[in-house]
Amino acid sequence: MTADVNKNLATRPTLGTCYYPEQWPREQWQEDARQMAALGLTWVRIAEFSWGVLEPTPGELCWPWLDEAINVLGQAGLKVVLGTPSATPPRWMIDKWPDMLAMDDKGQVRKFGSRRHYCFSHQNYRQEAVRIAALMAHRYSNNPYIHAWQVDNEYGCHDTTYSYSPAATKAFRVWLQQRYDNITKLNEAWGNVFWSMQYNDFEQIDLPNATVTEANPAHHMAFRRFSSDQVCDFNLSQVEVIKQYSKAPVSHNFMGRITDFDHSAMAQNLDFVTWDSYPLGFLEDRVQATSEHQCQYERQGDPDFQAFHHDLYRGVGNGRWWVMEQQPGPVNWAPYNPAPLAGMVRLWSWEALAHGAETVCYFRWRQAPFAQEQMHSGLLRPDSSPAPCYGEVSQLAQEIKDFPITKAKASVALVFDYVAAWAWEIQPHAANTSYFDLVFDCYKALRKQGLSVDVLPPCALENQAICDQYQLLWAPGLMHMSNPLKAALVKAKGHVLWGPRSAAKTQDMSIPVPLPPNIISLPLTVQACESLRPDRPLALEQGGWVINYRELLDTKANILEQTTDSEPVLVQQGKQLYLAAWLDQHALQRLVINLCTMANIPTFDMPEGVRCRDTKEHRFWFNYDNKPHQVEGESLAPGGVLIQ
Ligand code: GAL
Repeated sequence: MTADVNKNLATRPTLGTCYYPEQWPREQWQEDARQMAALGLTWVRIAEFSWGVLEPTPGELCWPWLDEAINVLGQAGLKVVLGTPSATPPRWMIDKWPDMLAMDDKGQVRKFGSRRHYCFSHQNYRQEAVRIAALMAHRYSNNPYIHAWQVDNEYGCHDTTYSYSPAATKAFRVWLQQRYDNITKLNEAWGNVFWSMQYNDFEQIDLPNATVTEANPAHHMAFRRFSSDQVCDFNLSQVEVIKQYSKAPVSHNFMGRITDFDHSAMAQNLDFVTWDSYPLGFLEDRVQATSEHQCQYERQGDPDFQAFHHDLYRGVGNGRWWVMEQQPGPVNWAPYNPAPLAGMVRLWSWEALAHGAETVCYFRWRQAPFAQEQMHSGLLRPDSSPAPCYGEVSQLAQEIKDFPITKAKASVALVFDYVAAWAWEIQPHAANTSYFDLVFDCYKALRKQGLSVDVLPPCALENQAICDQYQLLWAPGLMHMSNPLKAALVKAKGHVLWGPRSAAKTQDMSIPVPLPPNIISLPLTVQACESLRPDRPLALEQGGWVINYRELLDTKANILEQTTDSEPVLVQQGKQLYLAAWLDQHALQRLVINLCTMANIPTFDMPEGVRCRDTKEHRFWFNYDNKPHQVEGESLAPGGVLIQ
């Protein structure tokens, strides 16, 4: 992939909403559409869960309602994003293909009655999904109101990437055969001589669940790669059929902190990516914050979590991205669901736009009075009266008129790799080591020093020209590294920080020899590694702590930091540096300041909860804290946005 994700194209940001015409009486559609347009919305996403209405019995297709809904919305001046409904196959589909349901790792069938009840490997279901997508694409191929497509909805949501069904087992064997060619090669690559795990034939290989103790890490990694490929292939089969009929761009909506499939691989086949941002829900159940942090930010969300995903998803594809679902008020699904502080819906939206989103859509237009999500707010209450965020969206719609935003390349690139996330999950070496948290800790430290960051996948940085654009490249925890990536980082023009755990494994999860990291520009070898109890961090000589994980180095490089037991932690050879440990925020701040001094990047320590983001024309400041802060001589209230 060679796309420049910060191509200097000015975006005129727009807003939208998610609407379910099938859930409301037809008489209401006209007024809803009029009101959306009057509010200043441009986009409306529909139909992604509508299969039951579209095809109530097999082959009985009911188009008039959808024709009319598209017309009503389009004629009100709105642009329609049409969703394919494969996340919600109707009940009759299960009668037709009883074995299409996914199975969990205990072998339990995941039943009908909610959504995402399908196994990606079930070929007949995949054909059904392609069939309905093709019918929609054909019918609306020249419809002037359809301006984009969304395939399915939130792959991986509700833990649905992995399925341990017979269909998955069958497909896994075919996938293995294609990857390893013959069984001897697989046995060797996996080290199956250990514990007499050799196979004589691909047909003997099961999925890596329900083993007596842990399955071979190579077996797990193969299953992860396979499962990710299944999701990407499932998606591609719909993208291809839509493109046979329609010229409108095709997308999919990703989620927060989902690493089970390779979003970067999928994004290669999308015209733009979108993601669904629920800051308060995330703070409660995905950020891994202390309860003190959760209390402080309970109505604002974590100051870095949304921004991290904005940067992550800007980087996975060609740089074009939206927020497809923006939290508008309390949600229904987190352990606790407070209402946002006044101003936060506007702040979250501005922040997305400042990070390069073309569009922010609110989920959902009107709160549903029935079924699973009745406790989830919308822009309107169930009786159509405006919810508290309505005024904020109205204000924002005025503010973004004639407000072009041009993305600016950051000075710092941080690498995020889905395969590394799987590798850390498969061999965490401790209960407290998650790759996502490691990268997120680095991201937080960079942002606390006022930096804008480009988060990029390894495949982008294998391109030397892209690599060379950055003054600082940071690649934490990349357990497997391709040779082209290593070569590009070794030759990079800027400063490069590797480690910990760089190139620690082969593709098949074995320890490589020569020992890791085997980086030509760095005279060092990892002799051993250890993980640490949360209550037993190791003190650093200059202050702060090594937490969770460290490597013991044999090195001739210049030692910049060490622990009080005299083990090197940060070493340097020219512009190349290696970090042999996971550091706490105190030490990470010092590290960022020192790296930026070396790389000639200005830093400034941000007040608690305040973050900033640079675009070509502006610097945006956001106050996530629950108290005001002085920013550039002005008092910025909680929920406040300052645009310079
Ligand atoms: C998203 C999903 C929506 C809705 C929403 C509720 O994950 O795409 O359909 O369920 O969450 O917050």
